[in-house]
Amino acid sequence: MSNVKILSGENIPLEMHKVRMVQKLTLLPVEKRMQCMQEAGFNTFLLKNRDVFLDMLTDSGVNAMSENQYAAMMQADDSYAGSETYYRLEAVLRDIFGMEYFLPAHQGRACENIISQTLVRPGTTALMNYHFTTTKAHITLMGGSVEEIICDEGLKIQSDAPFKGDINIAKLNEAIRRLGKEKIAFMRIEAGTNLVGGQPVSMGNMREVSRICRESGVPLVYDASLLADNLYFIKTRDEKYRDVDIKDITREISSFMDIVYFSARKLGSARGGGILVSDKALFLKMRELVPLFEGFLTYGGMSVREMEAMAVGLQETMDIDVISQTPIFVEALCNELTAKGIPVVTPPGGLGCHIDAEEFCSHIPQTQYRAGALASAVYITGGVRGMERGTLSEQRNEDGSERLAEMELLRLAIPKRVFTLSQLKYAADRIGWLWNNRRLIGGLEFVEEPKVLRFFFGRLKPVGNWPETLVRQFRGDYGESL
Ligand code: F0G
Repeated sequence: MSNVKILSGENIPLEMHKVRMVQKLTLLPVEKRMQCMQEAGFNTFLLKNRDVFLDMLTDSGVNAMSENQYAAMMQADDSYAGSETYYRLEAVLRDIFGMEYFLPAHQGRACENIISQTLVRPGTTALMNYHFTTTKAHITLMGGSVEEIICDEGLKIQSDAPFKGDINIAKLNEAIRRLGKEKIAFMRIEAGTNLVGGQPVSMGNMREVSRICRESGVPLVYDASLLADNLYFIKTRDEKYRDVDIKDITREISSFMDIVYFSARKLGSARGGGILVSDKALFLKMRELVPLFEGFLTYGGMSVREMEAMAVGLQETMDIDVISQTPIFVEALCNELTAKGIPVVTPPGGLGCHIDAEEFCSHIPQTQYRAGALASAVYITGGVRGMERGTLSEQRNEDGSERLAEMELLRLAIPKRVFTLSQLKYAADRIGWLWNNRRLIGGLEFVEEPKVLRFFFGRLKPVGNWPETLVRQFRGDYGESL
């Protein structure tokens, strides 16, 4: 947000844009919301969007686009090979990241497939601050494993550490000594730890990790999907970067990395993905996989229209008024919830507001999916769709036992420039009511459990008839209100 002072001293998340295209929303009655949740197998991924009031499932592919992005889509060059669109996007990426080569891919996980196929061998380990679901799935598919070496603060729900996504340097050194570079597929830094609160990584930490990796010959991979938020936090939380241009910050980050990849469903507010690399041999190796899994090199499975929108969206990411929108809204929602006594991840990060379901639903056994139960209850209570980020999002251990998540979070994502402050206040009201009635929420158990990425398609049922009780209580307190 620009430097705008409010005389009362109140901190208003002022929008530096205006809305010129809208989508009508509907809010169903609470009884109907419960029915929709039942039909969706108590899995918010299986809800139909027409039954959702505020879709806070994700910011992926649902960020508001600018007029310039839409305009750019009209001048896309629709050719299978050698499209001008590709060269325009490549030039923008080179300019922003300062890396020589660009490989297009249809989304972030497609980049992860290419990188894992190139660098992961059976028995190798990928080190990282924290895994993301699709990242880990691709690494394990190739016979590798993941070791998380996030700093201790990163796994504390409440903290005032500004960069909770930092790598624990002592753990990195120890892992390199123990495994040796041959057994390390790569070191991965995720900008904004998606599964543990969207927390940023500091420049100093990235510099140090890069130095160690270069000394040890370990490739350093940067997942830049959540880069926009991370740039904002470097600029606002690190005194040394307050007056540094956002593009210069970006360039400094990429100078530390061997590979940068991203989901353009997040970074650049379009739909697609890409890999950037400076080393020609590595580029050529990865390039072989693009036509096999994505498409010809000049579109990589993407629509050229999306590529044009991505090029403009990436340039707009270099504007503080654009990238500040999500973090200041996340902070606003976190503050509303904190004021009601609701436990959230602090300091507020990027991506969304993360509610601590471990405490919210401490009366539910962890094996009955506290965060999943809370996600269902929040939808029933307010028509607000969040995403479970806890044990349900984990994969079972080899022996079939549950891998209990380190954090049980309900993520309420804040897509860029989509929601208004009054909508956030409404969500906070309903979640506040739920907090006061939290003992009414019960657990969930699987009815259908897929083996891989079970949270996407798995179907569950409530343990007991708690949804009915919740709806009765809601009617009692809210009367005829939706
Ligand atoms: N890396 C990170 C950090 C992500 O957040 C995502 C996606 C991916 C990789 C995969 O990218 O979806 O384009 O294939 N995150 C979405 C989310 C799905 O809801 O947080 P993708």
